Amino acid sequence: MFHLSWFLGDGFGIHPWSAANGDGPWVGNNVNDWMEPDIYIDLATSLERAGFDYILFEDTSMVEDSYNGSADTSLRRGLMAPKNDPMPLVPIITRATKHIGIIPTVSTIQYPPYLAARLYTTLDHLTKGRVGMNVVTSVTDRVAQNFGYERHLDHDERYRMAMEWTDVVLQLQNSWKDGAIVADPEAGVYADHTKVLPIDHKGEFFSSRGPLNTIPGPQRTPPICSAGSSEAGRDLAAKYDDTMISLVKTPAEGKAYREDMRKRVAAYGRNPDDVKFLFLVSPTIAATDAEAAAQLEAAAAWKASDKGIEYNLWNMSYTSGGRIDFGGIDPDTLIRDIDLSKQNGEHTSILNLFKGHEDKTLREVVASSHQVSDMGLHGSPDTVAERMGEIMDEIGGDGFLVYMPTTRINMAMVADGLAPALRRRGLIRTEYTGATLRENLLAF
Ligand SMILES: Cc1cc2nc3c(=O)[nH]c(=O)nc-3n(C[C@H](O)[C@H](O)[C@H](O)COP(=O)(O)O)c2cc1C
Repeated sequence: MFHLSWFLGDGFGIHPWSAANGDGPWVGNNVNDWMEPDIYIDLATSLERAGFDYILFEDTSMVEDSYNGSADTSLRRGLMAPKNDPMPLVPIITRATKHIGIIPTVSTIQYPPYLAARLYTTLDHLTKGRVGMNVVTSVTDRVAQNFGYERHLDHDERYRMAMEWTDVVLQLQNSWKDGAIVADPEAGVYADHTKVLPIDHKGEFFSSRGPLNTIPGPQRTPPICSAGSSEAGRDLAAKYDDTMISLVKTPAEGKAYREDMRKRVAAYGRNPDDVKFLFLVSPTIAATDAEAAAQLEAAAAWKASDKGIEYNLWNMSYTSGGRIDFGGIDPDTLIRDIDLSKQNGEHTSILNLFKGHEDKTLREVVASSHQVSDMGLHGSPDTVAERMGEIMDEIGGDGFLVYMPTTRINMAMVADGLAPALRRRGLIRTEYTGATLRENLLAF
């Protein structure tokens, strides 16, 4: 069996909303409704029916304006803006569901460790142990500038900061020792102060005295997730992650990635089986293989259109950390002539996109390449289910992080088409056996 989870790439932001922007016909009234909780509840109840472990909520805090030096494209097309804070949504979703976990993103440059430790512990209580923490270092200067920095920290420095940040959060969440809570109304004793201890942390980036001013939640330390695949990103994940977003293009790459990560986890004295590596994929599912093939063809044509190219260049400008304006580069420039030395964002993403395409032009590459692979997952639910099984056999585990446009038709396709097809093959859970997100992650 393998695990399934969902990457909500728009976070608590505007979802596909305009056929004119290539979003297809199933966008409902997302343009007006995205800020209502309903679609997230529909998503969570559907995915719970499908036995998913968690929904990962992306989050960023900025209006991006590096592409063409203007916020025009971001705001005209609703790209990463507007976006609400996902935290208040978490208990709303978990009140409407019983099992599925919710992992909202937290940035180490936005939250001091104390605030984050307190917030996630509070959410752990409110969700009865179904929250997790996606730790990011933020990608662009524009985010950093909203939080008091002149520009973003350099890549490796911010991962050093994330290491310390995560360590302090965990120390705070462990500052109430076992047995600290007495909760005896007859004796009038709530807690034993000898078991609630300061952490007295003074480090390179943070100081925090502690202890935390709330009691441990059902999971004590909600599961940690991260996505970085650079050396520094892998090191952070190896030390702290319980589940990792794994970004590869092929099953062979996935196998090598997982083997590498499991070695790194073991080097920290941890059991590699305790970390679930979920591989990001964007499947295309339709009633028949022929319909899925037609959809893929339409998507490829849109990608090569002016609007498709604008989107991809915009996205790469963001991904570079806002340091490279891909709108300012002649699209007929050869990849080998583009200077990437200034990028400071999602380090490996653009390098991977360009790798092996040095003799092509920028236009050719953005018109045909994909940041997130489908690993051949396209077709009817049965076809996709069969292929998912083959891919997992080749990689060796632990599951997929499904990334599809947030529309209700996609939710139904996964919950009522794909999941039953996977269950018929014995590939995914038929019921939840754990009470918490951590227990469900560790169930197999
Ligand atoms: C699927 C996925 C989701 C991500 N979600 C977020 C996010 O919500 N917010 C954010 O600031 N960065 C996000 N990132 C960026 C990562 O945290 C990280 O900065 C990026 O993967 C680059 O890591 P690297 O430099 O180690 O390769 C995400 C990356 C991936 C692949």
